[in-house]
Amino acid sequence: MKIKTADFVISNSDVAKCPKERLAEYAFIGRSNVGKSSLINMLTGQNKLAKTSGRPGKTQLINHFKINNNWFLVDLPGYGYAKVSKSVKKTFQSFIKNYFLQREQLICTFVLIDCRHEPQKIDMEFMEFLGENEIPFSIIFTKSDKIKLSELNRNIKNYSKKMTQTLWEEMPKYFITSATSSDGKEELLTYIDEINQQ
Ligand code: GTP
Ligand code: MG
Repeated sequence: MKIKTADFVISNSDVAKCPKERLAEYAFIGRSNVGKSSLINMLTGQNKLAKTSGRPGKTQLINHFKINNNWFLVDLPGYGYAKVSKSVKKTFQSFIKNYFLQREQLICTFVLIDCRHEPQKIDMEFMEFLGENEIPFSIIFTKSDKIKLSELNRNIKNYSKKMTQTLWEEMPKYFITSATSSDGKEELLTYIDEINQQ
């Protein structure tokens, strides 16, 4: 699928104020700094669509982008950023959770994981939250340009092992991406396109 148009629609911290249009929606979530906003820019081919930063905690709201006038991409704040105050963290957590629990048009969630890291408790807990609430998700291993293929494969194996030891019978569908090299772009867009056709 080619993305021809990508337009910012609205930012807010309240799921009730998200767009009312019943278009298919795909959300990107993960730890702060994992590369959610960069991935959205890479997919849409627009460098400045979603705001990115080397400092964690850049995205602070639910951001809706309308793609090809046909579906929504949603950029979310990261979870687990240690440097924001406890009260800010709580506010983030509650509106993010409400978004996932209440957004009926959410078709698929992409949980982004930095491919350089070992499985982390906070990611496992978040995926468990999605699993327990029957919210469909796939995993995206980001920043593939930063490690060797052998390490990448080892880390994915570790993830797979960890997931099958907990809630899941098998490793969920996953993708490997790089916002720098555009690795994974076609595969991910084809996947979204296939779901949109169903
Ligand atoms: P928050 O909004 O703070 O939750 O972060 P985010 O997950 O949206 O991360 P963001 O896209 O802002 O990227 C964080 C940092 O990682 C930036 O400095 C990006 O340039 C860098 N980055 C993101 N993706 C990649 C990637 O695929 N490869 C490399 N090398 N750097 C990346
Ligand atoms: Mg961001």
